[in-house]
Amino acid sequence: MKIFLAGGAGYIGTHTAVELLNNGYEVVIVDDYANSCPEAVARVEELTGKKVALYEADVQDEQAMERIMRAEKPDTVIHFAGLKAVGESVQQPLRYYRNNINTTLSLLEAMEAVGVDKFIFSSSATVYGAQNPSPYKEDMPKGLCTNPYGWTKSMMEQILADAVVAYPRLGVVLLRYFNPIGAHESGRIGEDPQGIPNNLMPYVSQVAIGQRQELTIFGNDYDTPDGTCLRDYIHVVDLAEGHLKAVEFSENHQGIDVFNLGTGKPYSVLDIVNTFQEVNQVPVKYTIGPRRAGDLPICYADASKAKAVLGWEAKKTLADMCRDSWNWQKHNPKGYRK
Ligand code: NAD
Ligand code: WQD
Repeated sequence: MKIFLAGGAGYIGTHTAVELLNNGYEVVIVDDYANSCPEAVARVEELTGKKVALYEADVQDEQAMERIMRAEKPDTVIHFAGLKAVGESVQQPLRYYRNNINTTLSLLEAMEAVGVDKFIFSSSATVYGAQNPSPYKEDMPKGLCTNPYGWTKSMMEQILADAVVAYPRLGVVLLRYFNPIGAHESGRIGEDPQGIPNNLMPYVSQVAIGQRQELTIFGNDYDTPDGTCLRDYIHVVDLAEGHLKAVEFSENHQGIDVFNLGTGKPYSVLDIVNTFQEVNQVPVKYTIGPRRAGDLPICYADASKAKAVLGWEAKKTLADMCRDSWNWQKHNPKGYRK
């Protein structure tokens, strides 16, 4: 079977490509390197000893997607291609709506033209919004998002729900990721943020290696055990295995199904900092700052549906996540830029 990874040169895409290739799938990656580089795909090939069919293209380009699909004849499309920086989406909402929604539309149109009918979508826990209480369950109504990035995910879920009604052959799996961190245990692939990281773990790693002076913890006065926010951090390799299970599930699937991909275990910002320091024996200097606008105090998954239906559950611990993040950072202090 052949799997088409739109945005597959990125953080989650490369880890998923490794799992797919190691399990006998062929992989096509299409990326415009807006937030990645070809070196990441070269490392996927190095790790697996297998070739990837690699295309540089904008996934918004429907004709290019149709051409590539006709040439490659994939069985399933996984759509990772998106812009994902929450703060940037507030500054540049139109760019986010255009890129994220157009990529989804062009993939669906190309699939319809070529006759590819399995689609797996990178959604996010952000679609639950601020109103639902954690743990989040898939049958909760979606909530009000707090930023344009979140709204693009919520809108794309709606577009996909409408598409399955109109195109009965289509099968759609919505995967709502929680907070992916960590890296492949080889240290050859990992998260490579450009500029100042927005997310906690890359920031912690860059402080540990001396690229940033100190971490600011955004608030310690929340109604949580240690006052800092709780999140459901999930190892990116566990997440990648979730995609493998979703691909197997989608083989005989029509209609639309949604799965949380999280561990179901909440950890605080201080848990991350303390575990990172203990496991890696490196100091992480931090200070307590004000709350960050839009942060929810608590966000974690009920992960039971993925276990029951996909036969998937996250296995790696917080210590594994901190160890593998540091291993990647230590061996690639400048990311993929040598
Ligand atoms: P990433 O930025 O590392 O990967 C996304 C990839 O898509 C990049 O390689 C980028 O160059 C590519 N891309 C973007 N727009 C494109 C376009 N128009 N044409 C071609 N390629 C394009 O991000 P990631 O962390 O791997 O996330 C993958 C997906 O998962 C995204 O859709 C993201 O919104 C979603 N997601 C991520 C997280 C997270 O915390 N990492 C959480 C929930 C959901
Ligand atoms: C985690 C915790 C911060 C940085 C985001 C998106 C979400 C999803 C995953 C895509 C929070 C705290 C962070 C720092 C800190 N992405 N923090 N100092 O906000 O839970 O989720 O990424 O879909 O949609 O919103 O992740 O890593 O930014 O923050 O104290 O310098 O770390 O306040 O409690 P978040 P994050």
